Parts: sequence; structure tokens; C-alpha cells
Amino acid sequence: MTFASDSRLPWWRNAVCYQIYVRSFADGDGDGIGDIAGITSRLDYLEGLNVDALWLTPFYRSPQADHGYDVADYRDVDPLFGTLADFDEMLAGAHDRGLKVIVDLVPNHTSAEHAWFQEALAAGRGSRARDRYKFSDGRGPDGSEPPNNWQSIFGGSAWTRVDDGQWYLHLFDSSQPDLNWDDPEVGDEFESILRFWLDRGVDGFRVDVAHGLFKASGLPDVAGFGPGGETLDATMSQWDRPYWDQPGVHDVYRRWRKVLDSYPGDRMMIGEAWVGSPESMARYVRPDEMHQVFNFHWLSTPFSAPALRQVIDETYAAVGPVGASPTWVLSNHDVVRTVTHYGGGDLGLSRAKASMLTMLALPGSAYVYQGEELGLPQVDVAPEDRQDPTWLRGGGVGRDGCRVPLPWSGSEPPFGFSPGGPGEVRTWLPQPEWFREYTVEHQSRDPYSTLGFLRYAVARRRGLVGGLSGSIEMLERRDDVVAFRRAGVDGAPGLICVVNCGTTDHVVDDLGAPVVLSAALAEGTGQLLPNSAAWFLA
Ligand code: BGC
Repeated sequence: MTFASDSRLPWWRNAVCYQIYVRSFADGDGDGIGDIAGITSRLDYLEGLNVDALWLTPFYRSPQADHGYDVADYRDVDPLFGTLADFDEMLAGAHDRGLKVIVDLVPNHTSAEHAWFQEALAAGRGSRARDRYKFSDGRGPDGSEPPNNWQSIFGGSAWTRVDDGQWYLHLFDSSQPDLNWDDPEVGDEFESILRFWLDRGVDGFRVDVAHGLFKASGLPDVAGFGPGGETLDATMSQWDRPYWDQPGVHDVYRRWRKVLDSYPGDRMMIGEAWVGSPESMARYVRPDEMHQVFNFHWLSTPFSAPALRQVIDETYAAVGPVGASPTWVLSNHDVVRTVTHYGGGDLGLSRAKASMLTMLALPGSAYVYQGEELGLPQVDVAPEDRQDPTWLRGGGVGRDGCRVPLPWSGSEPPFGFSPGGPGEVRTWLPQPEWFREYTVEHQSRDPYSTLGFLRYAVARRRGLVGGLSGSIEMLERRDDVVAFRRAGVDGAPGLICVVNCGTTDHVVDDLGAPVVLSAALAEGTGQLLPNSAAWFLA
């Protein structure tokens, strides 16, 4: 019996990719902040998760106003996280274990400490250096009002005034000035940055704010906002704005695709593109643009059968027409952790595990955020400990609660995150005492823990995926149950995934197929419990 082999497809089409939020994964030098050496020291753990790839959030030189998404030097590692030599060692170690490594690229904005922005401030209005950013004169008789009514995603105006009276645009924090992508020098610089990391051997890029970059010419006001940015028309889509999804972005990704394709191996890029419709999303993954875009539909949906069906349908509507591979995301460093999103406690955990199993059964790539394998809930970080600029600027509840340093071992902070013992190191966000129930050490002793479950599920997926069709057939079940089948190819068995989103048990023994894995099937009864999912060979 011959099975279609994984090696026929580029690795990223079927990958399980583990997101490392570098500050919070593992601390090698004992300063309470995660770093590259910490990652290297945990490569065996990552290999043991059976994932295919790692995505590292930004570790470049940065004042850390947005924890690395404010880059001051795109070609160096911030001393907080180590050195380029540390990066090379980590990359080599990952590659030795068969793990691909994707790095984060931040092209929409730099840090205000970037040499270009410092030069622009010093050079003054009308200078060549200012052309690289979005500087503009203000409105009103003395130019003392912002050039338009745009609001920062992190709260407050998207404009800040400099000493000579001009304003600069920052869609995020004021320490993150937006670049001017109409300036050819910006495009050339980013091509050179791509090459720098590709030459070092990275396997791909996660492109931050890929739907940003270009702004509509003339910088028109957002319709539906008042002059001070107040919302006048709440029905307006938040994606239909003059700073998102402008046509110019596609030429940039075409250019980058050519660069990636000129390197050996399957180098890839995945975009963080928040856009309003499946059609817009599809444009980013045309065959000569990005390889993938994150599919964020799942993040905001409740645990319900109609919502899950809609996520699946819309995903296929987006990627199907252009032949791109789907991606699935349950959480990341910007959103509330899945367990909490689904109601917290045992209920939230059951639903998170069921969703994980569903995501791993679907064709395409699954992106797993660090801590999901431990079933970590959101941490309620005390206001005085908060560090996220969205919180500090008053733009939202803040993202610190999903970014607390991981618990590795022991029964007291720093839970093995940092080399020091209890009380010796203060982690950059405090870890709660209840983390002791969630440590890797604690869960590794129990094959039925969330960690044991995920390791096993990913390993089974790896064994099955090469023999499965890339399409799914939805199966008729109860309304509150979602079920789909992927046919086997070249004589391999197919896979059925059933998810019970209802409140009563669901009989599954009619499927007549051996169970591969479940979370949780009532032992011997042929009933799938509410808030759980199972796989069957079929
Ligand atoms: C990243 C955020 C970051 C923002 C600005 C995002 O979409 O995921 O963490 O704050 O871009 O760079």
C-alpha cells in the first residue's frame, strides 16, 4: 500500500507551527525576560511536541515599547534577547531537529528610535529623510490640529506633533511611526532585510500588519468618524478604512515572493492580514504573492456548531478560488487565551481541546500559540503590573494576560522560566501561584494531561496527514454537531472528525470506524460527550 508522501508538498502547506512569544517562552540569562538562549535550551521540548515549525515574535533591537513590534534595527538581535550568534546557534539547533524557523517582519512601522526616524526628526520639514515616513502639516489656521481624524489602533489620535509643528502618523503607538511605502527606498530596504535573514537560513516570515503599509492618497478622513476620531456611524466596517488593504500592498508581496523563490528550499511568508471579506483575503494568497495568511475567523467565534461551520465555509471561500492552503488559528499573543474565551474552567478547557483536535484534523496548517499545549487560561494581570501599550494608551483591556511567562517546573514562581530559584528572579509579568498546576513538569507525568493530549494528537496527525486528501466533505449530523471527512489517498484510510458543540451526548458508534483519538468519548458507550471532539479512521 503506498501513501502519498508529505515530501510531495512544500512543508508549510500541512505544518503545525508553534508560536514563540520570545519574551515569555524561556529565560536563559536570568533577567526574568525570555531570550534566544532560552529557546535553544528548550529545543528538545519543542521537538517533543512533534510540531513542524516555530514562529518567533520580534527579537530585533528595539526599545520594547510594543515588546519588539517597534524595531530600531532590523538586522540585529536586541541585547535583551542575546546576539546574532545566539540566533545562529538556535537556528542550527532547530534545523538539526527538523524544525523550520519563521521570523517576524514588521514593515508597516519602525521604532521612533530607528536611525531613519531620528534622521527625519533632525532633518526637518521638506527633507528627504521625512519622505520615508508619513509626515504632514496639521489642520486649522495654525496647523495645530491633526492632519485627519485617524485613530491609533492602541487608542487616541494616530498623529503626534513634532517640535517644528509637523505631524507624523502612527497607526499604533506614538513610538511606532508608519513608514511611507510610496518611497522607493523603503521597498529597497525591506528587500535587503529579507535577504539578510534568508541568507542566515530562516525558512520564512510572518508579516506583521500585512494589510497596512500603504495609505490612501490625500490621507482622507475616515468616513463615520467625527473630526476628533469619535465614532459617528457604528455600522461602518472597521476594515473599510483608508489605511487598510490598499492596492499597493500586492506589488510589495509580489516582489518579496520573487526574492523568496530565488532561495533554495521552500521559503515562505504568512501575512497577518485583517481584511473585511474572503475576496480581499484571497488577493493576498494569489500564486505570486504570499503563501498563506492567518485565518482569524475562529478567534472571535463562540463554541457553537453554526459558528464552526461558518468558519470552515468562509475559509474555503477565501482560499479555494486561488488554490492556497488554509490556515487555522485558535489564539495568539494579541487575544484572550482560548480556554478563557470558551468560558474558562473545565468547560473552557474541554472546548479548547475539542477545537484543537478539530483544527488539527482540517487540511492546511495549524498555528499553535505557546501555552495552548498546557491549556493555560488568561491571567488577570494587576493594573500596576500591566505593560501593554494598548492598556497604557487606554485602547482596550490589554494583552498582558496571554503573555505571562510560561510555567516549566516547580511549585513557585519563576516556575523554571528563569534559571534562578523561587524569589530570586522577578519575571517581567508576574506569574500567578495557580500556574503550579500547569507546569510542563507537572503535565509531563500524566499522559492524559493537556500537554500529553496535544503531543499525541500532533504526532497522530503527522502520521496520517500524508495520506489524507486536502479537501473535506461535511457529514450530516445533529444540528449542534459538526462532522467532516477527509478521504484517504493512494489507499490510505480517511479521517472523520466529529465535534459535539451541543449539551447532550452524541452517538457516534454508527460511524463504525475505529477511534483514533478523542476528547472525550465516554468509555465504551459510543457517545461523544458535549464540548468534545473525536477522530475516527474511515
Ligand atoms: C502584532 C501586535 C503588534 C502590532 C503592531 C500586530 O498585529 O501582532 O502584537 O502590537 O501588530 O506591530
